[in-house]
Amino acid sequence: MKHFTSVRGLGRDELESLIATSIAYATGGSVEPVLGDRSVALMFFERSTRTRLSFQLAAEKLGAHVLNLDPSRSSTGKGESLRDTALTVGSIGADIFVVRHSEPGVPDLVGEWTGLPVVNAGDGVREHPTQALVDLVTLRRHFGDLTGLRVGIVGDIRHSRVANSLSSALPTMGIDLAFIGPEEFLPTQVDGVVMSTDLDEVIGGLDVVYLLRVQTERGAEVSADYSGRYRLDESRAALMAESAVVMHPGPLNRGVEVVDEVADGPRSLILHQVSNGVPARMAVLSSLERSLV
Ligand code: CP
Repeated sequence: MKHFTSVRGLGRDELESLIATSIAYATGGSVEPVLGDRSVALMFFERSTRTRLSFQLAAEKLGAHVLNLDPSRSSTGKGESLRDTALTVGSIGADIFVVRHSEPGVPDLVGEWTGLPVVNAGDGVREHPTQALVDLVTLRRHFGDLTGLRVGIVGDIRHSRVANSLSSALPTMGIDLAFIGPEEFLPTQVDGVVMSTDLDEVIGGLDVVYLLRVQTERGAEVSADYSGRYRLDESRAALMAESAVVMHPGPLNRGVEVVDEVADGPRSLILHQVSNGVPARMAVLSSLERSLV
């Protein structure tokens, strides 16, 4: 694999291989420094806590140097173009780029401009492929077999790059997917995905209630009745099957899509998702290592 900018086009075998490598990193002993003396450039033009820090730790655990570009203090503020910034960071010595940007497709452009491997750490509303891998690893570690698992993604699906990546990765793994939210947050029909505006009607049939934040930074608005219809509070969580779990890619807007008692409760896998971020990103970076010259 030269780049990891999308999960679309990845088959079940490729995802299984990445999941297995992630779990080996999560549960194994010593780690071979396969990126020893290599440099990984983190270029995050949008805010991040989980993805940026877990990529940093993943790269360091694999033996890489980390070049951490801070756009608010870089020469992009003096008018340097994105292309010149990427070429400059490549010339300084980056071997792999990890890019987050508000514009869809920028990570692919960085790959074209520099000829170097790129990981998409989230590009606008398009994709967040490593979050999809993190979630598959979390599901595999919790449930084991994924075939026939019923996952309902709840909330602002239309503006969510996470939902977009999951809408490809979950069905590829044999998982049944439903999108649940108000009309204005549901996408137009996606093949094989069930759509519903009524969470209370479908929640009892789900194995996973996967909550999303309303992406106000992308123009979405929280309607007056949003929390009343979609917030996972204790009374709504009581409608879930006994074995069902709660997931969320973070960051949470507590009180809007979820309440503290559920987010921090025994059925929540939210911090497991965060913990799986490091081994999953180690798996992605080590898979790119083979394409380095
Ligand atoms: N899930 C996720 O991408 O979180 P961050 O924005 O904190 O990286």
